[in-house]
Amino acid sequence: MKLTPGKIGILVLSLLLVAMTATIGAEEYLNIPKELVIKRGFTKEALNCIECHAKKIPGTVEGWKTSRMSHAGVSCYDCHVVEKSSPMASQCEGIKGTSTFISPMVSSKTCSRCHPQEVEQFLKSGHAELASGAVTSPERAGLSKLQFYYEGGGFMTNKKFSWVYGTPKEATNFERAPRASGCQPCHGTQVELGPDNKPINETWPGGVGTIYPDGSIGTCTVCHERHSFKKSDARKPEACGACHLGPDHPNVEIYLESKHGQLYQTQGEDWEFDSPPDAWEPGDYTAPTCATCHMSGIGNLATTHNVQERLKWDLMHKKSVVRSGNRGEGIKGEENMKKVCANCHGPSHIKTQRDMLDNSVGLYNTFWDGAVKMKKELADKKLLGPDPWQDGFQELEYYLWHHTGRRARQGAAMNAPDYAHWHGFFQVFQVYQDMENIYKNRIETGRVEKYSPVISSAPY
Ligand code: HEC
Ligand code: HEC
Ligand code: HEC
Ligand code: HEC
Ligand code: HEC
Ligand code: HEC
Ligand code: HEC
Ligand code: HEC
Repeated sequence: MKLTPGKIGILVLSLLLVAMTATIGAEEYLNIPKELVIKRGFTKEALNCIECHAKKIPGTVEGWKTSRMSHAGVSCYDCHVVEKSSPMASQCEGIKGTSTFISPMVSSKTCSRCHPQEVEQFLKSGHAELASGAVTSPERAGLSKLQFYYEGGGFMTNKKFSWVYGTPKEATNFERAPRASGCQPCHGTQVELGPDNKPINETWPGGVGTIYPDGSIGTCTVCHERHSFKKSDARKPEACGACHLGPDHPNVEIYLESKHGQLYQTQGEDWEFDSPPDAWEPGDYTAPTCATCHMSGIGNLATTHNVQERLKWDLMHKKSVVRSGNRGEGIKGEENMKKVCANCHGPSHIKTQRDMLDNSVGLYNTFWDGAVKMKKELADKKLLGPDPWQDGFQELEYYLWHHTGRRARQGAAMNAPDYAHWHGFFQVFQVYQDMENIYKNRIETGRVEKYSPVISSAPY
């Protein structure tokens, strides 16, 4: 980053703003002291934690030592000590019998004492309540029942899918396993506590939208790995790729395939990733990463922790609509995203890309509408099987939107031709034709096939 007088001004101003919001914004969400005091050096109590832990769980201390926060005097004590009255309060071996209580669980609420603005933005985004809600509230409108049948993974147990509709506590260890090892590390869930206020039932540590026992939401360390908490890490695509990958949302694969990803892979080592917020600009890098487009300050756009602010379409659900309500404001989102591109591309280039995205969404939606129409007719004629996972038509319907359709839409959105076409539209066409064939056969014969003709695992 080059520090021009203007940028220094912006920096000073934003530091002042942060300081102001730290005193104003904090108390609402949090009920915590108004004063933000950052200790220079460490108190005796804090040194106690650090010194013993340097021997006992040394990895935590080594990580923390490399963080900016450690140099600013923020220690274990600031993040892990809780009130005795906290539902998460417990004591570790080193402090048994003292009046100090700690928790291994640290939510966004703790960070908000010093970073209220980041937390406020984060809480409005899909990374907070919506993320864990996807796993904890099956009733949520518009979601496929299929997803709460463990997306197919529950059938081995006798009590088929029962936990999903019962309370998690009734689940056997095995029944929890697919959710605990799969959905939760990405999405998060409600943390459950044992009698000693420690987490149980594999509900912690969890993903981005984890709901903590005190009601607070969000695990900031999914992008800012503990205990180094570097913004430079979060600016790299690897920070997002831990969750945004795979057959149903291959965002990091898409990125690496794009021209932007190509530049990141060939030149990224020489880029500057540690510039201050809102001063990380082209020149520090030559092509955008996930963070540049979705979060970082660039040009006139300020940094945001609300990843919805620059999105027009909902590209994850069955039918793509312009975002509204708790999914953001699509029209504004489109304008913001265009401003990102405008730092490096001219208007003709940007228009091509936006039109191509809109057209791709429109084409995908046409297929989806066709599928819905066929399904309705089959339902009216009682030609749908009772278990969606053993009914070829319904299985394919799921792959149409959840795998192939997402890849087509997201590949087009982020400039990856292979994902847009071969993993995307090409397979949308194939899946749709297979659905048509099953549909026609059922209408003609008046019967549902005895076995599903779909091999679920491939190639969708
Ligand atoms: C800036 C806040 C912060 C500081 C400072 C901090 N931690 Fe943490 N720590 C966290 C967060 C966040 C987590 C993840 C908690 C979660 O997922 O709920 C965590 C998790 C942990 C865990 C549990 C995870 C595990 O791997 O077992 C331990 C133990 C821990 N920290 C020890 C320490 C020690 C020791 C220090 C001081 C050297 C320290 N922490 C400093 C925020 C902090
Ligand atoms: C004299 C040594 C000692 C001191 C002092 C000490 N700890 Fe610990 N701490 C331990 C040991 C040993 C463990 C692992 C066994 C346990 O949890 O009892 C531990 C575990 C922890 C854990 C993880 C708990 C879990 O359930 O996984 C956290 C978080 C933690 N300590 C934070 C702190 C904080 C914060 C302080 C300072 C207020 C502190 N410790 C002071 C020795 C110490
Ligand atoms: C007691 C106040 C305090 C708490 C609590 C706190 N931070 Fe910080 N944090 C700071 C200060 C001060 C800095 C600036 C350090 C600097 O720039 O020298 C900072 C810097 C950061 C940075 C930027 C680091 C970099 O590489 O530039 C990140 C990311 C961060 N904090 C994340 C967190 C997260 C996540 C939590 C909660 C788990 C948290 N902080 C809790 C005070 C705090
Ligand atoms: C720990 C896993 C995890 C990490 C790491 C992660 N995300 Fe996400 N992200 C999710 C989940 C889960 C959702 C879906 C939320 C929902 O249910 O709507 C999501 C949704 C999103 C959305 C759509 C938001 C919405 O409200 O509809 C965007 C954009 C996004 N993430 C971008 C990013 C970027 C950029 C990064 C890296 C800087 C990143 N994510 C890192 C798990 C993660
Ligand atoms: C590898 C991490 C990962 C795993 C494992 C995972 N998800 Fe997701 N999930 C995501 C991401 C990332 C998104 C956002 C996709 C997008 O924007 O296209 C998402 C989106 C969703 C959505 C749509 C968003 C919403 O809020 O309506 C639902 C529902 C969902 N996942 C449920 C689940 C369930 C249930 C499981 C386990 C059976 C699961 N996911 C497993 C990362 C994951
Ligand atoms: C989806 C990934 C992601 C999550 C989740 C996330 N951050 Fe960040 N964070 C980033 C990125 C990317 C940057 C760098 C933005 C930029 O380029 O300015 C950043 C920067 C920061 C900074 C540095 C700002 C400064 O002044 O130096 C702080 C502090 C911070 N985040 C705190 C948090 C807190 C607190 C949480 C939890 C509510 C959180 N982050 C969750 C991606 C994330
Ligand atoms: C060149 C800018 C750019 C880069 C780089 C980029 N994206 Fe995107 N992303 C977009 C655009 C544009 C959209 C579609 C926005 C819209 O709807 O208008 C999008 C959409 C998304 C969505 C879909 C949200 C939904 O509706 O389901 C997710 C998730 C996402 N991006 C994550 C990522 C991740 C993770 C990375 C890095 C691995 C990344 N993006 C890199 C520009 C970018
Ligand atoms: C930081 C600068 C930067 C930003 C921001 C950026 N791009 Fe790019 N983009 C580049 C560079 C550099 C190339 C590679 C040009 C080449 O092929 O040599 C590129 C290439 C592309 C390509 C491949 C076609 C071509 O021009 O060669 C597309 C498509 C593209 N960008 C779309 C976008 C869109 C859409 C946005 C905004 C959502 C965006 N870019 C934001 C720098 C940027």
